Amino acid sequence: MTTHASVLLKDYTPPDFLVDRVTLVFDIRPEETRVTSTLTLFKNPDKSNKSSVLKMDMGDFEIQSVTLDGQNLSSNAFQADGKQFIVPDMPDRFTLETRTLLCPEKNTRLEGLYRSRGIYCTQCEAEGFRNITPFPDRPDVMARYTCTIIADKTACPVLLSNGNPVKAGDLPDNRHFVTWEDPFKKPCYLFALVAGNLSWIESPFVTRSGKHITLKIFAEPENIDKCHHAMACLKQAVKWDEERFNLEYDLDLYQIVAINDFNAGAMENKGLNIFNAKYVLADPATATDDDFMNIQRVIGHEYFHNWTGNRVTLKNWFQLSLKEGLTVFRDQEFTSDLNSRSVERISNVKTLRALQFPEDSGPMAHPVRPDAYIKMDNFYTMTVYEKGAELIRMIHQFLGETLFQQGMALYFKQFDGMAVTVEDFLSVMAQAGHMDMTQFKRWYTQSGTPTVTVTRSYDPDTRILSVTFAQHTPFDRNQSEKQPLHIPIRMGLIDPEGKDIIPEQKSLIQMRDDTHTVAFQNVPSGTLPSVFRQFSAPVKISTDLSDEELAFLMARDTDDFNRWDAAQTLFNKEIQTLVSAIARHRPLTVSQNLVQAFETALSDQSADRAFLAKALAIPQEMELANLFDCIDVDAIHAARQHLKTHLAATLTPLFLNTIDQCGHSDPESLSIQDIGNRGLRNLAISYMASLGTASVHDIVWKAFLAAENMTDEFACFKILCTTTPELKRKSAARFYDKWSHDPLVMDKWFYVQAVSPLADTLPCVKDLVTHPDFTLTNPNRVRALIYGFAMNNPVHFHEKTGNGYEFITDKILELDTINHQIAARLTGCFNHWKKYDSHRRVLMKQSLEILAASPNLSTNVYEIVSRALA
Ligand code: PHE
Ligand code: ZN
Repeated sequence: MTTHASVLLKDYTPPDFLVDRVTLVFDIRPEETRVTSTLTLFKNPDKSNKSSVLKMDMGDFEIQSVTLDGQNLSSNAFQADGKQFIVPDMPDRFTLETRTLLCPEKNTRLEGLYRSRGIYCTQCEAEGFRNITPFPDRPDVMARYTCTIIADKTACPVLLSNGNPVKAGDLPDNRHFVTWEDPFKKPCYLFALVAGNLSWIESPFVTRSGKHITLKIFAEPENIDKCHHAMACLKQAVKWDEERFNLEYDLDLYQIVAINDFNAGAMENKGLNIFNAKYVLADPATATDDDFMNIQRVIGHEYFHNWTGNRVTLKNWFQLSLKEGLTVFRDQEFTSDLNSRSVERISNVKTLRALQFPEDSGPMAHPVRPDAYIKMDNFYTMTVYEKGAELIRMIHQFLGETLFQQGMALYFKQFDGMAVTVEDFLSVMAQAGHMDMTQFKRWYTQSGTPTVTVTRSYDPDTRILSVTFAQHTPFDRNQSEKQPLHIPIRMGLIDPEGKDIIPEQKSLIQMRDDTHTVAFQNVPSGTLPSVFRQFSAPVKISTDLSDEELAFLMARDTDDFNRWDAAQTLFNKEIQTLVSAIARHRPLTVSQNLVQAFETALSDQSADRAFLAKALAIPQEMELANLFDCIDVDAIHAARQHLKTHLAATLTPLFLNTIDQCGHSDPESLSIQDIGNRGLRNLAISYMASLGTASVHDIVWKAFLAAENMTDEFACFKILCTTTPELKRKSAARFYDKWSHDPLVMDKWFYVQAVSPLADTLPCVKDLVTHPDFTLTNPNRVRALIYGFAMNNPVHFHEKTGNGYEFITDKILELDTINHQIAARLTGCFNHWKKYDSHRRVLMKQSLEILAASPNLSTNVYEIVSRALA
């Protein structure tokens, strides 16, 4: 394995040269796009020891000519090796023109300029711009851009870039051009271009100060009718940012383009967002309720980046969470304000626990602000995004909404138009909140998830209840010793009548030391602490609550998040008991206490059904895996199955009744009630199906046929694929006939089969790889089938034979020749190899070694493999 150098935060130095203006001309022709880039560069005045050697980044392309201040440079006057472009002896200020030749048609890596189903588009974050032209490709180099696109009128009637169109016209040979100018300075990662045959919808919007702007969404002509939900979400986002953050849109035009082949979710390019089609296109027939919600979230997210990311950007890539953590916090608040706050909080915490906590304890563990990377692409992680958002949420709790918003206002006042750091953000928050943030900053620099252990003691004579918190973060490769963190603990006390007995103002505890004790006076006996309300800090919580006490909190806590969490803890404890019974070949039982708590919750007619659908779902196998030091995938699966079947068998009439009562919603409505009805009904159907009887299979099949929207159709299809091979085949065939024309729905078709627990799944997945509708070049398709299998089907991926590992190893190698980023993400499925039994550990390690030994491994995959093996 050849090694690759790390980039270190401590090595950061300001750029030697800055760029004033960037003028780009793209001449697009089949198999050959010519780019002329004219840069005005100057020596960085803030640098004391100025170098005269211009070093720029470059990708693997042909340079056709270079001119310096109008003079042609011969090829020995500069160096260009496909990585760096170097010209010695530069004056203080000069104009450099380079002509490069690109072939977007052959670009399967989907970074830089590429073509997706006939549409030319760019993806420049993090370091894709260097694949278009030599450039100082780093976010602290900000410039003004003008971009002219020339292309065939028939193939590419629509030509887009950032900012405003300033000139357009026809050219000979059925060609035309449009020139775009972006009035705002930006780093090159926010540059974008789109050219193709696109339709669009548009809508006017009047901003708070009375400015008229135009919102446009572009998609392939056949999909344009599916853009209306996205447009409605965009308007909600523009309005919400004005109202809640006092931020107004700054250009006259805001454009979104839906693209089929896209490495990530979406990209916030200034004034021209490029989206994975999955986060734009929706109608009730083809998109589930979750899809609709995700569109709202991602549309909001990219829009909010216009201020947090674009107007104020990053000094270097180590600061990524400065824009991503903050923008995720903003999109979470947006969806919470517009929908159900508690349901939103629950799904965020589920993601954090299922995906970020394991990341934080595995080989990829890194601080929210990493201090080293080999390939930045690998650090678009759950830690930077989701834990990063939790850090902002903690600051928000310390300050409260008013002071937090004052901090945000200061942030824009001081740093608008600049490239800044996490320290800069913390400094404005410290100022606004009159708070010392020195200790809090450790959250950004120290990796790992702290565990907070909560213990109680009650003295019936004095009626004093003392609650003690102890924090501990295990050491890891990043720091051998962990410092105590500053942790906000929001808590309440619930008396035996279910009343909250401490006032709201006293409910926030600031923990700064290893241990912290609070004593409450005059507390009735039997009062229970409800800690970390609304999940006030991203920690693992360990309490000494008994099952009875948890059941009481599940029913009576006034904090809805903690009602849900009490249910989760009960489920988790039950699964742990079952898994250890399985290991010791003991008979499996389920505690009556859990069944009763479940029954009480499900019978509550007045309950919020969306909430119930979350509270009564047994945690996924991936979440459950976190409970164990050594993961036994088969036992976890069997335990979960047993618990599910037991609940279904014991509470059959109640489930049937729920299916019936929740069956009367408007199939096309996206109201919280209707979404809740569907969620709870489909959960009840899935419980019933676990009984495995012919009569319940019949119920599911009929519900599948009768489904009037994709939420129900998909839920039933997924359940049918867990029943019998026969029903799986039958439902898959029907679903295929109905939807084979629609790529986003076909992703669901592949996914559901990939995650089936039935015995024939691996051969079936191998077959699906050869299906005419499967391709390794489309990231959504790969994520559906290959990631679905590797990441969401623990039982089959971890098959004892090692066949699952072998299959995925092959696919990683194949994918790595096509798309490094997608291959590297998939490689993460081996990250936790040390947490399995010795047999699987050996096999997984072998897979990693095969990858390590493979010649021509990309830097992206190399980084993941080498960290996993270290
Ligand atoms: N910056 C994008 C977002 O979070 C994510 C992204 C990263 C997209 C890298 C493409 C490439 O909104
Ligand atoms: Zn983002």
